[in-house]
Amino acid sequence: MATDSFGDTNRHFWNKNAKSAFTQEWALALSEQLRDCLLSSIDWIDIRKSSSNETPVKIIDYACGNGLVSRTLVDFADVIRGVDVSDAMVDQYNDLRRQSGISPERMHAVCGNFLDSGHNDAIAGPDFYEADAIIMSMALHHCGDPQAMLSKMVDRLRSNGVLVMLDWADSASGHAAGASSHAHGHDIMGNSDASHTISKSSFSAGDMKQLFSGAGCNPDTVGFRPYKETSHIPESVAKVKGGVDMTFFIAKARKP
Ligand SMILES: C[S@@+](CC[C@H](N)C(=O)[O-])C[C@H]1O[C@@H](n2cnc3c(N)ncnc32)[C@H](O)[C@@H]1O
Repeated sequence: MATDSFGDTNRHFWNKNAKSAFTQEWALALSEQLRDCLLSSIDWIDIRKSSSNETPVKIIDYACGNGLVSRTLVDFADVIRGVDVSDAMVDQYNDLRRQSGISPERMHAVCGNFLDSGHNDAIAGPDFYEADAIIMSMALHHCGDPQAMLSKMVDRLRSNGVLVMLDWADSASGHAAGASSHAHGHDIMGNSDASHTISKSSFSAGDMKQLFSGAGCNPDTVGFRPYKETSHIPESVAKVKGGVDMTFFIAKARKP
């Protein structure tokens, strides 16, 4: 039985929109920026390096969608496990992985929700614990209880593992050079077709510090970096005249 009704709402929405979610021009441009942000932050994130005499390096790509984070970071882990509440997203992830010739032992996604005790069989095994890094890209704003979600993630990290979040920055935290004259940092989510799947449209550096610390991460390890450019969400999606320019951030903290 579902115990996270917000997760259930997201599952229905993303199952319906899984195919179209990553084909629109603005979403492709955003994916490219997220990729660039991850790769240019790789030393800063500092995931344990693989070595033959230690346990394999494991990344969990949580709320993985079709696998943008996993495919971007495939060279930085021995094992990557994707988790998403939407089975249509999980199917896309595994199809794209198959097409890339990557083995399922190396990379594989399953359906699950850390906040839903009735939806957890596939994520109960050791593959989904003791991760070196758990990364969640553009999905914290879809969680009914962001604090509970971060706590569940920390439970699944190994000691000194790193939790990484990418999401929309609030207008005070997300100033990027060259922001255009379009509405900036507007609450885009209030009007969009996805508004019912969103609990909080953006996060400040202070919000993230509080969430990481509340989840049991070491507060001294918290880092927050707005991406160098804005991302344009067109009028057709934001339902705001001229569209909106938003800035996303990458933030991290370590489990003690
Ligand atoms: C905007 S997409 C981001 C996908 C991917 N991380 C990326 O950056 O391309 C949001 C994803 O979060 C997933 N999601 C929403 N709530 C979730 C939850 N409680 N648990 C797991 N996945 C969730 C959705 O199914 C969807 O695939």
